[in-house]
Amino acid sequence: MKRTGLGLWAAVIAFAAAVQAAASAADEAATKAFIWSIPKAELHVHFEGTLEPEHYLELAKRNSLPGRYATAAAVRQRQRDGRDLKSFIEVYEELLSVIRTEADFREVAVAHLRRAKAQGIVYTEMFFDPQMHTERGIPLATVFAGLLAAQAAARNEFGVRVEYIMCFNRDRSVESALAILEASKPWHRRILGVGLDNPEEKDFPRKFAGVFARARSLGLRATSHCDVNQPNTLAHHWGCLDELKVERIDHGINVLDDPALIAAVKARGIGLTVCPTLMEADIPGRLEFRAKAVKRMLELRLLVTINSDDPGLMRGLLVGDLMLGVHRTVGLTKAEIVTLAENSFRIAWLPEADRAVYLAAVREAAR
Ligand code: HPA
Ligand code: ZN
Repeated sequence: MKRTGLGLWAAVIAFAAAVQAAASAADEAATKAFIWSIPKAELHVHFEGTLEPEHYLELAKRNSLPGRYATAAAVRQRQRDGRDLKSFIEVYEELLSVIRTEADFREVAVAHLRRAKAQGIVYTEMFFDPQMHTERGIPLATVFAGLLAAQAAARNEFGVRVEYIMCFNRDRSVESALAILEASKPWHRRILGVGLDNPEEKDFPRKFAGVFARARSLGLRATSHCDVNQPNTLAHHWGCLDELKVERIDHGINVLDDPALIAAVKARGIGLTVCPTLMEADIPGRLEFRAKAVKRMLELRLLVTINSDDPGLMRGLLVGDLMLGVHRTVGLTKAEIVTLAENSFRIAWLPEADRAVYLAAVREAAR
């Protein structure tokens, strides 16, 4: 068959495009394998936010709770309806209501840690929200028994280490936070520290300064959420540093909006647990915005890490998926991927000897 000149060019262009697509698919597969193979820590994931829709339905049935949703698709639709942090937390609180027994707590945490291990997460510092459980009548002892059983199971069954950070909710009272802090004393040696989450109220660092001072005096370490693009975010970042005396900021993307904050975070060695979790399809441009922030933080040599936040409510995306997503969006070099993994151990609240072992494992895997 005789080709016209134009037809020939079209064929050449199509062939070149196919070669390019094959090359980028190969690059993506290689990058994915590399990301998955590097040992990583996750430092910003909420126990309650790891509950997958299918697991939610199973627990609702097992605990004979009136199922508000009949299918996992209905749960996912409800999750997609969330517009802002406040409405997101409404869904979060609604879904966690099916977690009731010690076995439930254990099972939910283990399920997440097992999934994360498949993407190379070997160490996790997991947040939990005790107020959301005690308020609905679940004893603190049940919460801790379940989480500590998960810790033992993850270590013994699949060789993953998990430690816990107890969060106070910013939209609840100081008295309630202090009561939980005192009531949890029997377990203080089993947790690393305290954090703050839930909707961001104005001047929240000042509100919780006394609670954090008390927690630090009890030997607990401190971190806090500063969610993305919230009102008064710069003042809140400064308040977390100066009034709460945190060692890390959870999210912390808006640090980039203030050169003085960048300098302070750098000088004080503050870790940033960024969550590039919202995908383009949900909110146009959001992933791109967060991915660009990760890249910029790497360029500035800030102690940035990549975390999944609430994978059960965010399409099940885990740290490996998110690193790959960032790579697709802004392009990460191999060295940057290794730095992200190293940072995750550098800012982890680990004993120094354990940190050295994990960092050596990253270097070995990256060779
Ligand atoms: N921000 C505030 N509260 C939360 C979050 C978060 O990222 N995830 C679960 N509770
Ligand atoms: Zn969070």
